[in-house]
Amino acid sequence: MCGIVGCILKEKKDAAPVLFECIQNLEYRGYDSIGLATYDNRINVKKGKGDIKKVNREQNFKNMSGSYGIAHTRWASTGKPTPENAHPHLDDTNTVAVVHNGTLENHSEIRDELIKEGHEFISTTDTEVIPHMIKKFMDEGLNLEDAVRKCGEKIEGSYAIVAMSKDEPGKLVATRKDSPLIVAFGKEGYFVASDTPAVLDYARDVIRPKEGEIAILTKEGIEIHDENGKEIKKVPQHIDWSPEMAKKEGFDHFMIKEITEQSAAVKNTLGQRANIEKIIKSIGDVKRICFVACGTSYHASITGKYLIESLAGIACDVVIASEFKYTAKTWDEDTLVIFISQSGETFDSRMALKEARKTSKTLAIVNVAGSAMTEEAEYFIQTQAGPEIGVAATKTYLAQLTAIYLFAALMAKDEKLIRELYKVPKYIDEVVNERESIKEISKRYDFAKNAFYLGRGFSYPIALEGALKLKEITYIHAEGYAAGELKHGPLALIDEKVPVIVVIPPGDDYSKTMVNLEEVKARGAIILSVCAKGDKKTAENSKEVIEINAEVGDIIAPLVYAVPLQLISYYVTCDKGYNPDKPRNLAKVITV
Ligand code: F6R
Repeated sequence: MCGIVGCILKEKKDAAPVLFECIQNLEYRGYDSIGLATYDNRINVKKGKGDIKKVNREQNFKNMSGSYGIAHTRWASTGKPTPENAHPHLDDTNTVAVVHNGTLENHSEIRDELIKEGHEFISTTDTEVIPHMIKKFMDEGLNLEDAVRKCGEKIEGSYAIVAMSKDEPGKLVATRKDSPLIVAFGKEGYFVASDTPAVLDYARDVIRPKEGEIAILTKEGIEIHDENGKEIKKVPQHIDWSPEMAKKEGFDHFMIKEITEQSAAVKNTLGQRANIEKIIKSIGDVKRICFVACGTSYHASITGKYLIESLAGIACDVVIASEFKYTAKTWDEDTLVIFISQSGETFDSRMALKEARKTSKTLAIVNVAGSAMTEEAEYFIQTQAGPEIGVAATKTYLAQLTAIYLFAALMAKDEKLIRELYKVPKYIDEVVNERESIKEISKRYDFAKNAFYLGRGFSYPIALEGALKLKEITYIHAEGYAAGELKHGPLALIDEKVPVIVVIPPGDDYSKTMVNLEEVKARGAIILSVCAKGDKKTAENSKEVIEINAEVGDIIAPLVYAVPLQLISYYVTCDKGYNPDKPRNLAKVITV
């Protein structure tokens, strides 16, 4: 959803190489176009369409002079990905440059007014109104800080903005509403960015300005001002994620690196037990629970519903965040609404959280420390997956599941399940260590145009997640189905060209799933099953199988059986020549 960076170096050195490195770390937020602006007696701008490496080859960002500047990587929302629409955007006198993440709802009206006043626009973005307005307010006598503040009052929608003006050299001014923004203190200089992975190489002491606050960066330091311009003293939070955690470290892609990190993500999240116990105690009695999330986090939530209902006997709903407001009238003070989010910044989830807070207790399970939802929810659990850069969620999904399992098991005082959870990292590593054989299997499925994933009970959300992973990075159409539901319509689509991936762990649902497997077999489907080691019946009825440790039963299956499905999607994507870390049209953090 666009990444923005700003940096001011303490010494008189060129900032462009630093800005370039930082913005490269944010490519997971968008990669349609990129641009940098630096100041060296004038504002220099280079920008272009395409990803960072391509545009850098054409323009050589690193030779831009000036000890401070701003940078942007774009995920197009308003206006196509074209060179003109790439950020930074400037006013028509090249005095003010701005990078922006978010979407403005009233940009057309503002643009029309500015055009009437004689301003000329060159892009079709919403952002371009911002530098024009800042310039106009500065011409009317405001300083850069006040002009940015006034601009924030005029624009509607979501934004994180960093602005610089040649009329106030040596300064960056940033503000935000509904879009993430951090400022960070480093040895070499001061930084502002959408997210911490941008700056980890340079700075790890971070402040997250609240909505409406203004951050002012100079080479002397960073000040945060409130809406009246009064300085607010804040203590930076030290981020213990190391820079290496956000690097590929010899792996071909972040996605495969992150898949191999899953056992650690689960192990580290299990370390949250004491914290989760404390939270359950403070929440007290609840009559009803509702999970709210999007995408992969929504699939983790379905597992949560099955767990809470079967272990704790509490009625539990799962709602897609963007649909939450339609059910909001049914929640009350005895309801706990649990928000699941990797980023903690997803717009739909945050809006639902705002609604839920009006009536109910709220808990956010989030991976990114200090993200918006950690501040907005009443209670907060941090999953311990470390930074996830690949756009497709993998390790954060297993970390979310781990937190949900712990939460449900602790609520139900199910020590047996908790003991089981401690064995999960070993089971995950067994699958990951077999990845070469899964790579071979994957080669036989890259022809597919459509695929189905089937599972029952706890395996149903695994099927949904398997299908999502396949479609988002391989662009193969895939559907996840409750195995028993297939005969109510989609069975008509099954023929000998359609792979069906059946998730069939040992447990209560095994025999019923076997019936569904036989149904698709009878229609000629190519069946790839994920089953327990030594499960002869499944092997006999499938074209081929991926075997999982037979100790993994159906209840903990989501934490282990999801892994081969991630690996299949990864290898099919590589086989097809696509980049799994940067699927088309997607971005890591959806703040619109
Ligand atoms: C898919 C994926 C997305 C996210 C969704 C919610 O691999 O990553 O479906 O799960 O956009 O994002 P968060 O969890 O950050 O709220």
